[in-house]
Amino acid sequence: MILTDVIIIGAGIAAHSVACRLCDRGKKVIILTKSNKHDCNSTLAQGGISVALREDDSYMSHYEDTLSAGCGLNDKEATMTLVKEAPGIIREFIESGMNFDKNADGSLSFGREAAHKLARVIHAGGDRTGLKVMEQLYKNLGDRAEIRENEPVIDLIVKDGEAVGVITRDKDGNFNTYCAPYIVLAAGGIGNLFPGTSNDATITGDSIALAYRSGAELKNLEFIQFHPTLLTINGKNFGLISEAVRGDGGILVNEKGERIMEGVHPLKDLAPRDVVSRAVYSHTQKGENIYLDISGISGFRSRFPNVSEICESNGVDIDKNLIPVAPGAHFHMGGVKALPTGETTLPGLYAVGEAACTNVHGANRLASNSLLEGLVFGRLTADNIADSDRHMRTAQYTMPTVKMNVPLPSKKDIAKVMMKCVGIVRTEKSLLEGIEYFESFMPDKKGFVSINPMLCTDEELEIYNMLTAGWLIAKAAYNRKESFGAHYMENRLN
Ligand code: SIN
Repeated sequence: MILTDVIIIGAGIAAHSVACRLCDRGKKVIILTKSNKHDCNSTLAQGGISVALREDDSYMSHYEDTLSAGCGLNDKEATMTLVKEAPGIIREFIESGMNFDKNADGSLSFGREAAHKLARVIHAGGDRTGLKVMEQLYKNLGDRAEIRENEPVIDLIVKDGEAVGVITRDKDGNFNTYCAPYIVLAAGGIGNLFPGTSNDATITGDSIALAYRSGAELKNLEFIQFHPTLLTINGKNFGLISEAVRGDGGILVNEKGERIMEGVHPLKDLAPRDVVSRAVYSHTQKGENIYLDISGISGFRSRFPNVSEICESNGVDIDKNLIPVAPGAHFHMGGVKALPTGETTLPGLYAVGEAACTNVHGANRLASNSLLEGLVFGRLTADNIADSDRHMRTAQYTMPTVKMNVPLPSKKDIAKVMMKCVGIVRTEKSLLEGIEYFESFMPDKKGFVSINPMLCTDEELEIYNMLTAGWLIAKAAYNRKESFGAHYMENRLN
């Protein structure tokens, strides 16, 4: 049994933000990740970080935009905490060495993204913000925390209603037990539950499945953000085309060159993401091709080096100024119910970043609020842990006797069902069909309970987590009767 002060599951921006601060405060931290530490959504993030740092901006304005994109369903207190804490924490991050892009006069360069009243998004390396932020966090953390790669967490260990540890399987096939008074779940969202996604291939709903099996409460699982512009060729997607492209003047057009957002929303191409995604989707469903016209953007390659590389490596000539796009799963607003300081409903378990639902995003996340959430709530969670005095309790994992229902579907099968039944446009019938599909793989009447990992491969355990998350999402969507933001029920308004 391995004992430590804090176990962090996941290795993206939220995990590293928690780890850096806890190490500053003298805690012993182990980070567990099922792949290598670079495989996460954070390194892929293009857009940037929204923060009220301009003289003519204010956290109140950022707050209003966040609420308005979230359809007002956001938790107001948590949202206020996020926007108010943001400027100070970002300034400190800059002081730690982080280099955000600057104008010729040395001032910070602010980009515009959808549903923001003004340009308030800071970025780094053009559209390589996530990578640059992670590189800085790796530097700040150094070797102060132990990072165990290729070691998936199979289950949390719960004793007398408290999370006390985790069970993992390492790359040599050994089962390892870790115990700590604090367990932080920061393993991201659910992108690969859908066929087209901007997410890293490792993101398979593990956070939700782990939390569900441990008895922690989940929240708002029905709210899944589809990004309107993934590079899409012959129905296959090849990565994100940042919203900052539309912020800098990119326009969505059909094959005839007509603007598709004209008359759909007053903000046109910069309308909230759920609105733009549905508009693009309605065209692609009719068999039309939709493009991002970038002819109005000068110096495209230097402002968007990452997007340019994604396009060119997939045979799209950006000098022709038309990038073929379609929506894809991008961000989960729902997750493990948590406070901005990380506490979940299960004592000893904390959740942060996309894994968590602090409800700052409501029904639709405002662009570039997710890296921000990882940094700000990561910091608050770490401080909360460092200031508390939970005691170490140890327990061994009891190997479950329940076996998986085989044969399991493939990841592709699950993604197809999710898109059809729980996708951009949903109906009561489609949701019931989704629930029925998932329940056919349920190994036990009690639900998707813990199963014997000795009888499964890591891939099968991942698929089991996807089935668990898919089922929970479909049920949550079925239970929310009205349309709100990213949860869109055909013919039902809110
Ligand atoms: C993007 O660059 O479009 C994504 C940014 C975000 O999801 O906030």
